[in-house]
Amino acid sequence: MDFYDKDLVSIRDLDREQINYLLDLSEKMIPYARGEKVKKMLDGKVLGNLFFEPSTRTKLSFESAAGRLGCTVIDVSEMSMTSMSKGETLADTIKMVDGYCDVIVLRHPHEGAARLAAKFSENPVINAGDGAGSHPTQTLLDLFTMRSAKGSLDGLNIVLVGDLKYGRTVHSLAEALTMFGAKLTLVAPESLQMPKDIYSHIVEKGCKPVKTPILEDVIGQADVLYVTRIQKERFPDPAEYQKVAGMYRIGNAVLREAKSDMIVMHPLPRVDEILPEVDSTPHAKYFEQAFNGVPVRMALLCAILGGDING
Ligand code: CP
Repeated sequence: MDFYDKDLVSIRDLDREQINYLLDLSEKMIPYARGEKVKKMLDGKVLGNLFFEPSTRTKLSFESAAGRLGCTVIDVSEMSMTSMSKGETLADTIKMVDGYCDVIVLRHPHEGAARLAAKFSENPVINAGDGAGSHPTQTLLDLFTMRSAKGSLDGLNIVLVGDLKYGRTVHSLAEALTMFGAKLTLVAPESLQMPKDIYSHIVEKGCKPVKTPILEDVIGQADVLYVTRIQKERFPDPAEYQKVAGMYRIGNAVLREAKSDMIVMHPLPRVDEILPEVDSTPHAKYFEQAFNGVPVRMALLCAILGGDING
């Protein structure tokens, strides 16, 4: 499976076979991600971790993944701490960082920024979230979490709920799940439904999504309930945000209608859309999901940088 030196800008860069390969490799990475086994598979490599938008999980799990593999990390957490604050363009910034590392991980507030970075970087670029665009590495760890819990991804009944318009994780995830023949139900008010281009893409690929604003009507059929935060920071008008804020709150009362083995996932951070009372139920998978960012990103870095788990 040839990932060496390749960009990961969109989940469309991967096919089903490549995703399965990465998920299998992620499984093998678990003891290394936990520190139970040590192998410096990327000794001598350097990762450039550029985060121009806030992050806890993605940034730190890339750092943890790199560290576990013996890969050095150079990083930026704020645009104001770079020469972009003096007017340097993203293109020039990328050309510079490209010379300092072997792979660039980029989070940026603007959709399309990772694509642009990939154009200006000789080394591979990994999209760690571009505005309301996509978040392909989150999708890999989401798929890994679903496969671990359910045994297989094929034909799962997945309910995506919340902000499907601005939530980039569900954009990549819906496209990936379509490759595995998932039945998708899109739960959101019309104003926060899945963008037309993504909806059209998944329909073209054979998915027949059901759309509804009412979670209670569909939760009983779900194998996975994937909850998203309403992305307040992406609303052009605060009054529009107020109309939808707090619309979905998942608590134990809502979950009484669910199958006993249904899992609840969330890319996190959450605000009020999953109540803390859910955390201690067998449905809750979101903290395990966040941990899975480490083995999955280890697998991805190894695949792109040529690390060998068997070497
Ligand atoms: N899931 C996710 O992207 O979280 P962070 O914004 O904390 O990286």
